[in-house]
Amino acid sequence: MKATIAVLPGDGIGPEVVAKSTELLSAIADKHGHEFTFVEGLIGGIAIDERGDPLPAETVAICEKADAILLGAVGGPKWSDPTATVQPERGLLGLRQHFGLFANLRPVKTYPALVEHAPLRAELLQDVDILFVRELVSGIYFGDRQEQGDGDSAFDTMTYQRAEVEQVANVAFRAAQGRRKKLCSVDKANVLASMRLWRRAVVDVRAEYDDVELEHLLVDAATMHLLTRPNSFDVILAGNMFGDILSDEASVLAGSLGMLPSASLRADQFGLYEPVHGSAPDIAGQGKANPIGMFLSAAMLLRYSLQLEAEAGAIESAIDAALDAGLRTADIASPGEASVTTDEFAAAVISCL
Ligand code: IPM
Ligand code: MG
Repeated sequence: MKATIAVLPGDGIGPEVVAKSTELLSAIADKHGHEFTFVEGLIGGIAIDERGDPLPAETVAICEKADAILLGAVGGPKWSDPTATVQPERGLLGLRQHFGLFANLRPVKTYPALVEHAPLRAELLQDVDILFVRELVSGIYFGDRQEQGDGDSAFDTMTYQRAEVEQVANVAFRAAQGRRKKLCSVDKANVLASMRLWRRAVVDVRAEYDDVELEHLLVDAATMHLLTRPNSFDVILAGNMFGDILSDEASVLAGSLGMLPSASLRADQFGLYEPVHGSAPDIAGQGKANPIGMFLSAAMLLRYSLQLEAEAGAIESAIDAALDAGLRTADIASPGEASVTTDEFAAAVISCL
């Protein structure tokens, strides 16, 4: 097949892992007889530097013409002055909003090869396989806010419409039906009105999915249950901010934040694919970045936006093979264990395809 992929490297380690993932996708294209065209655009801090705008109109235009978007990371200390009028993160939030990418899928699983290295006891990590479904274009991230006021007060507002909750809940229930048929919805219904609406809407949606077992957890309890019984979860549904926080916490289960991919989708399967990790400015430019989160994001792009399931599976198996062969980037190496660079790890995955 022919496909056009918008490629937005962004900041920090973004360009390093994105460059490796276009190499990986080109290798897939060669092997399976596809033609992928990559069109690069600016986003985040680098776009502020070069265009004065974290999401230039030309970038949006590139994405509009593409079949899917591959994004590295945005942000860094250079642009993190709290008095600055524009942040790199606005570029990413703007893209999510512009394209209405309401369903953010973040799978988290443990790798047998990494279980010993994880900070949690190995027995707790047996068979952890969780899919986070995070609402991505509403909630407190997009409510009324005061950006810069008199300097002494500021506010953000958490608002949800019933239809927004139902839309993302439907994605989560359908995903659960294709998995182990368990859904845990996370909220703060004991305190927040918006979260009481969330819970009522989820309960109502469930009527159409009576084969799925539904559990509700308050977000504070969820943080604890995630570490004490991680393998009891199947799909976890959460609002924008709670999903952001819980998915970072869950990265500990996978061994490193560098391992986690994500897909941000709208109903027609157009999507943006990015690793969950950020720009990691502390290790940028040193060849230390773990490309797995980015590679698994590329696999999700093939699976969800291009319906190339076998090709997606080939990437996932090649990553498993590289890990089984003992290759480790620094973030997943045990103390004293030798580690390989981003390039070396990527080359190993490509040769395992
Ligand atoms: C994420 C990130 C973003 C978010 C930032 C960079 C705006 O943390 O994708 O999880 O908060 O959504
Ligand atoms: Mg985050």
